[in-house]
Amino acid sequence: MAAVTEEPQFPFARRNDPLDPPAEYAHIRLEGPVRKARLWNGQNVWLVTRWTDVRQVLSSPHVSSDVQRKGYPSLSPGRTAQITSRNTFINMDPPAHTHYRRMLTKEFTLKRMTELRPSVQAIVDRLLDAMIDGGAPADIVTSLARPLPATVISTMLGVPARHYDDLRQWTEIRNDFASDPDEVRTAADSMMAVLDEVLKEKEAHPGDGADLLARLAIEYINTGELPHDEAVRIATFLYMAGHSTTASQLTLGLLSLLQHPDQFSMLVKQPTLVRGAIEEMLRFHTIAHFNAARVATAPMSVGGATIDAGDGIFALLLAANRDPATFPHPDTFDIARSPNPHMAFSFGIHQCLGQPLARLELDVALSSLIKRLPGLKLAMSADELKFTEMAQVFSVETLNVAW
Ligand code: HEM
Repeated sequence: MAAVTEEPQFPFARRNDPLDPPAEYAHIRLEGPVRKARLWNGQNVWLVTRWTDVRQVLSSPHVSSDVQRKGYPSLSPGRTAQITSRNTFINMDPPAHTHYRRMLTKEFTLKRMTELRPSVQAIVDRLLDAMIDGGAPADIVTSLARPLPATVISTMLGVPARHYDDLRQWTEIRNDFASDPDEVRTAADSMMAVLDEVLKEKEAHPGDGADLLARLAIEYINTGELPHDEAVRIATFLYMAGHSTTASQLTLGLLSLLQHPDQFSMLVKQPTLVRGAIEEMLRFHTIAHFNAARVATAPMSVGGATIDAGDGIFALLLAANRDPATFPHPDTFDIARSPNPHMAFSFGIHQCLGQPLARLELDVALSSLIKRLPGLKLAMSADELKFTEMAQVFSVETLNVAW
């Protein structure tokens, strides 16, 4: 009689170093490298762990990001409520995805980022002035990492700053896998109500298009090309995607740098290394650790496994970014790593639209920190760090530093 193999329950917990992926990823990569696991609702899902296989899946025309398609995998009841209540272009396939994404690409070009840099620098300067005036120790999360992207995305979209605290709390509820589905839906509705009000104001008084939502109103909503309700979903998603991710990446990146004081000193001595340091922070942490869920729309062969149409897939970005076949010594944090073809922003048509903005904010923040606080160090021990793991964005709650 053939042995009955029980599929392992996914997601796996990080049992050793919380900054390292679950040990199962390396086992699967070696033994699988593509294997099935079981989700909370009994559904089987394919886990893809090798860099080449993840790239293949994410660039295949035979996968869908549509959460309404049978087989699209979800990690908890709260996550199901979340993905079905923010159904915008990140969860669409071409041609609808292409249509909406095109409306936004010019907002995230390198030229636009160059224009934005002075205002991002001014925000960082103001936040660091206040942090330094307050004296050490200070929590980087509340002093810099959260307010920076929140202020940048609010200004960029044209969302009044008074909404920030509410929007952040709702984002946290939506991000957490353990959240109650009703709470998630209420948070999504509340966010959309705020953005609905903001957009109606832009549609009525777009002025000369001073911010992204005003330009969206002028070019697409008021011309009838973009329905108001879709614009509300897009605006809500941009707000969410634009602040919690960058906040977490900045905090975790700084944590790793300060845990490797030799590398922090290297940066202080050679600020041109900042760009490479940012790429390594992105690779090493891969904070969007459960992004890139897909469902197959046709049979496909990946890493020796046959994935059938309708099967759910997790293209594990964190596993791919620690694949030793692509990254020598993948579990070593090395700001001089080159080349560094990581997929922290995913790959293929859904690759992060906001990555130039995230890189800009990380660059300005890190460059300013090494210049103004070259003696920066951790002011808490490793066992005081609290990580949020079972959530869409991996993060650390508090990071106390001194200088
Ligand atoms: C360090 C910061 C960030 C990380 C690690 C990150 C990561 C990701 C990942 C992995 C995806 C792809 C999901 C998939 O393949 O299914 C994605 C998509 C996206 N991100 Fe980001 N993101 C970051 C910052 C931002 C920022 C600042 C914005 C700006 C608003 C943004 C906007 C978006 C949008 C609009 C998409 C959907 C793209 C599409 O479906 O075509 N992200 N992000």
